[in-house]
Amino acid sequence: MKKPTLLLALKGIAACALLLIQATAANAQSITIPIETKQNAMVLQVNSEKQLQTVYFGNKLSDKNEYAAIAKSYKAFQSTSEFNPAYTTSGTRNLLEPAISVTHADGNKSLELKYVDHSVTKINDDVNLLSINLKDSLYDFEVTLYYETYYNENVTEQWSVIKHHEKKDVILNKYASANLYLRAGSYWLKHFHGDWAREMKPEEEQLNHGIKTLDSKLGSRADLFQPPIFMVSLNKPATEDEGEVLYGNIEWSGNYRIDLEVDPTNNLRLIAGINNYAADYTLKPGVEFTTPKFVYTLSNKGEGDASRNLQSWARKYKIVDGNGPRLTLLNNWESTYFNFNEDKLAGLLKDTKTLGVDLFLLDDGWFGNKYPRNGDHAGLGDWEVNKAKLPNGIAFLTKTAKEDGVKFGIWVEPEMVNPKSELYEKHPDWIVKQPQRPEYYMRNQLVLDLSNPKVQDYVFSIVDDLFTKNPELAYIKWDCNSLMYNAYSAYETHQGNFYADYVFGLYHVLDRLRAKYPTVPLMLCSGGGGRVDYGALKYFTEYWPSDNTEPIERIFIQWEYSYFYPALTSSNHVTDWGKEPLKFRTDVAMMGKLGFDIVVSKLKPDELTFCQQAVSTYKQFSEAIWHGDQYRLQDPRENDVASIMYVDSAKTKAIMFNYLVNYRYDAGTKLPIRLKGLDPDKIYSVSEVNLFPGTRSSFGSATYSGKFLMTVGINPDVRDGRASVLIGVEEKK
Ligand code: GLA
Repeated sequence: MKKPTLLLALKGIAACALLLIQATAANAQSITIPIETKQNAMVLQVNSEKQLQTVYFGNKLSDKNEYAAIAKSYKAFQSTSEFNPAYTTSGTRNLLEPAISVTHADGNKSLELKYVDHSVTKINDDVNLLSINLKDSLYDFEVTLYYETYYNENVTEQWSVIKHHEKKDVILNKYASANLYLRAGSYWLKHFHGDWAREMKPEEEQLNHGIKTLDSKLGSRADLFQPPIFMVSLNKPATEDEGEVLYGNIEWSGNYRIDLEVDPTNNLRLIAGINNYAADYTLKPGVEFTTPKFVYTLSNKGEGDASRNLQSWARKYKIVDGNGPRLTLLNNWESTYFNFNEDKLAGLLKDTKTLGVDLFLLDDGWFGNKYPRNGDHAGLGDWEVNKAKLPNGIAFLTKTAKEDGVKFGIWVEPEMVNPKSELYEKHPDWIVKQPQRPEYYMRNQLVLDLSNPKVQDYVFSIVDDLFTKNPELAYIKWDCNSLMYNAYSAYETHQGNFYADYVFGLYHVLDRLRAKYPTVPLMLCSGGGGRVDYGALKYFTEYWPSDNTEPIERIFIQWEYSYFYPALTSSNHVTDWGKEPLKFRTDVAMMGKLGFDIVVSKLKPDELTFCQQAVSTYKQFSEAIWHGDQYRLQDPRENDVASIMYVDSAKTKAIMFNYLVNYRYDAGTKLPIRLKGLDPDKIYSVSEVNLFPGTRSSFGSATYSGKFLMTVGINPDVRDGRASVLIGVEEKK
């Protein structure tokens, strides 16, 4: 068997040694391309017709040479179609769901992509980028498939770049990012659905033959009903610590589509990308269309391991300042809504200091003069300070905040407009709506057309002006409360391009902002978790999981999100929602990025003392919560008590959160809960922390080995009356 030619091209590209493993169509028949991470290998192979196929995805082998022999171990089914192309085309031999489907310049709808060559670029010791060029033999049409692997994290990002040099425009009817192929006895899909204040409800089902599609057609806040995250267990549903499971997320903040097809040969074809619903994309000759990335990780050690892989990848490579700290804050949304003025805010700035948090976040309601933003029906789009409420502008507030020794942040919703606004009057052509049809609103607002570069400039300028005029501004909450009805762009020549160009436009604005303000914290808010995905988190430091801050609900919502996103990205605010005591609400908000949205001045003295102590306890354990490993110990869907812990990377400090989620008679912790992720040989002092002033702990404190804590466990004594219990674990030196 011929081996691929090995070319070592040492080029002086800064910080990125270029290692080219190059093979060409001449020796294509013998080409096997293993894509390895620490644990896994995906193996691609070029067949005798120069088609690129996926022959394997699973545990990696120790001898790379053996990958070539995998394919022949699978007896080919007598079949009418090809099931495992690495990027399935349509209009010729393939009769299954395609990854790509096009209409050529001459109207012909056939595409057959043949292997041309491939190369690997070593980005650093952990990251490699494989690119594979494919080309049609009849039409001047090419696709390059990219696989960026993160070796230690067992994570791959996959995307494709599509281009052509035909005589006229080509229409892309489907243009997926990735087309995976998995072989197992059975497949179990866990996906999530929801709506406002009911985000992240999980459902697990066995996939049968045919296609299950997860998608969104909502436009701007695409994942309100169904977020673009999922897991597929192989052979049996994975548990926290056992089983083979694939996690996936399409890094796209717009309409997406993920097809999961169990084919006639019982294998799983997975195709993920932008949704092609109402989105035939017109592509000009010579222009490259880069699809969003599809990120995935495969673990053979269960859901916990898969989520730690994804979380550490996200902190290291994706989210802004993933290894940095986060700001604790006091927000005024639920304490004032739209009803505030300078005096009230001056009081809240003082409260911020009293509470001991880092920043005051001024929410909605600070702008609009002709149409003041005194409710959610007017003013969106008119981003000048409301003179009646804030006669001395934002600069005065940032100055006062500085004098009070706290930072200052502000809310914006720059992609939106109320019909009652000057912006709506001046620029009707900037708004997404059908010109001849009645307008439909979500929360009395419409979406601005970000496919239009002028709108992009406008949105950029809203945030840029805020920073330019107020250099002390330390934080932005970027909201997005409406989905898109009546999707139509007055700017686009081809309406099919609109949905994708909206998101490209949004990312363009965010790219410009990040180029100018690389690290300033930005919260990705969307009236709840209507928008979080890794395409957006590339620009943000955190997201808002839900407007629902009722703490029992939050335990479930935060739990489900935690499979995919690290704790430091989860903005959790203590509010007055729910009947649980302040301690319970605060304990829940501490499992992530802590904030408050309560009336501090109305707290009783012992409540204020508790909050102040909680902020300082949080700071003591924040290294473990923000940058450590997360272990789920007891699932709230299966137990009376939910339990979760975070361990710092040195395994010296950990914190365990326990909550009663079932209030039936005598519910509580009867058995010890085993800890995870500690060093068995270390000795740890274990004690209850974050007690409400005046209460005594029935748990107390003790010293155990890591081995004991992970083998026998501890009983935090959670029950009615002790409904939330936090246990601090520290190495005894
Ligand atoms: C959305 C957000 C809230 C708040 C309001 C303001 O609903 O999720 O936190 O900012 O908008 O209008």
